[in-house]
Amino acid sequence: MKKIYLFGNWKMNMSYNEIATFSKEFNAGIRTSTSLTEKTDFCLFVPFTLIPRAVNELRPTAVGAQNVSEYDRGAYTGEVSAAMVKETGARYAIVGHSERRHIYGETSAQVNLKALKCLENGLTPVICVGETLDERESGKTIEVVREQLCTGIKNITADATYLIAYEPVWAIGTGRAASAHDAEEVCAFIKTITCVPVLYGGSVKPSNAAEIFTQPSVDGGLIGGASLRAAEFLNILKNYRSFEIQA
Ligand code: PGA
Repeated sequence: MKKIYLFGNWKMNMSYNEIATFSKEFNAGIRTSTSLTEKTDFCLFVPFTLIPRAVNELRPTAVGAQNVSEYDRGAYTGEVSAAMVKETGARYAIVGHSERRHIYGETSAQVNLKALKCLENGLTPVICVGETLDERESGKTIEVVREQLCTGIKNITADATYLIAYEPVWAIGTGRAASAHDAEEVCAFIKTITCVPVLYGGSVKPSNAAEIFTQPSVDGGLIGGASLRAAEFLNILKNYRSFEIQA
């Protein structure tokens, strides 16, 4: 049985009260099915304000932040440092999500500083990389991913704990996931540069999880929309595991 990372990115969704409903269903789901917890690492990346409550309600499931500042402290209005995130009980942080790169103009150099701040403060960064549709169509996928990856992991030591998420921008929130072949091709390329777990993200749902997660270079998923409802999130794993058992 392959180890799977099932990571959920709630983005700017969910409320203080909605966590209670999610946790009840999620906790019951993993309690009643040992095959779901076996060889599976879960993490839910929730909005900053919801982290303490999520840590409490989802325990022992890991909770993460969706971003951290590249600075330690000071006059950076609206920012949250990796040390502050760590104090909440979060264990992971996403850095370089394409929505941060494309909506807020984050560069790969900033993503690298954020990843280093996570590591300095005991958080495991999930460094996101991925090409836009234009870049894919003009044959630049590997070039773009190489630049984002090599800059993103600069000065990170070989023994550091981190993950990479390959998320093609055109597949995020569109319902159009990459084909299993395309996901594998890029994840395999990433593994020629760094030997850490590589997740695929972009329209992962229960119906396509098995074909994507069975790819040899894919270690799991970073899941947006389908992580907002506990049953759907867990069904992604259930479908994959039952396919794995039959195979
Ligand atoms: P999606 O989002 O699953 O809704 O496509 C993935 C992500 O942005 O991490």
